[in-house]
Amino acid sequence: MIGLLRKILPEAIPAWAAVSYSTGAAKLYGPQYKFMAGEIAAVARGVLLDIGTGPGLVPLEIGKIAPSLEILGIDVSEAMIAIAQKKREELGQKQVSFRVMNGDALAFADNSFDMIISTDALHHFKRPVMVFDEIYRCLKPGGEAWVYDGFPEASDKDIAAYIHGAGGVFLPYWFLRLNLLIHGFSKKEYDNTVRYRVSQSRFGTCIFEQRGIMMRLRFCKR
Ligand SMILES: C[S@@+](CC[C@H](N)C(=O)[O-])C[C@H]1O[C@@H](n2cnc3c(N)ncnc32)[C@H](O)[C@@H]1O
Repeated sequence: MIGLLRKILPEAIPAWAAVSYSTGAAKLYGPQYKFMAGEIAAVARGVLLDIGTGPGLVPLEIGKIAPSLEILGIDVSEAMIAIAQKKREELGQKQVSFRVMNGDALAFADNSFDMIISTDALHHFKRPVMVFDEIYRCLKPGGEAWVYDGFPEASDKDIAAYIHGAGGVFLPYWFLRLNLLIHGFSKKEYDNTVRYRVSQSRFGTCIFEQRGIMMRLRFCKR
């Protein structure tokens, strides 16, 4: 059922949904954005690319913690990029920029980025192997790509910790579980479908690491 939904839904979040996503996601995934931004900022150096950036909440959060990083967010949705650019102007973060672009056809030279990230977008990609190959091409040798997506089989303890971390934002348990189901993959899908797609890409392999309510795919370019 969820697999069918993924096939039917458009790759880009439609313009009518972009505004509600940007405000809804900020509330629902706010603690997760802070967590991911924190662990990315702790290791990132140089120039960073975010694929499927949506309203740019993760790059802008990283920009607050690590202002010396140069961060570029790309998204296939023009409406999302317009929102991200507006938020960036409000925050005055000159080191962060956004462009409309598809992750499966990156308009960058080989070996352009020190690190590439993607949050909550993998389940949207229609051609994930092409995106992995583009990440490989544009990443500098020795660089890493961290691709996060939802993990609906996170334990009750992980869910409770997340709700606790949301600090007063009303997040019903069932709502969060349902959201993870739609915005992510089951353990079986990570183990089979996603692992198979990675094996077809130039990376060949990656490390799967559960990070609370998310799964992180960690790719290394040798
Ligand atoms: C669920 S949103 C996640 C946005 C943001 N990264 C976050 O964590 O809130 C997924 C985004 O991926 C974008 N997207 C889907 N397929 C894409 C592709 N092939 N290349 C670039 N962006 C893509 C969609 O337009 C959407 O904005």
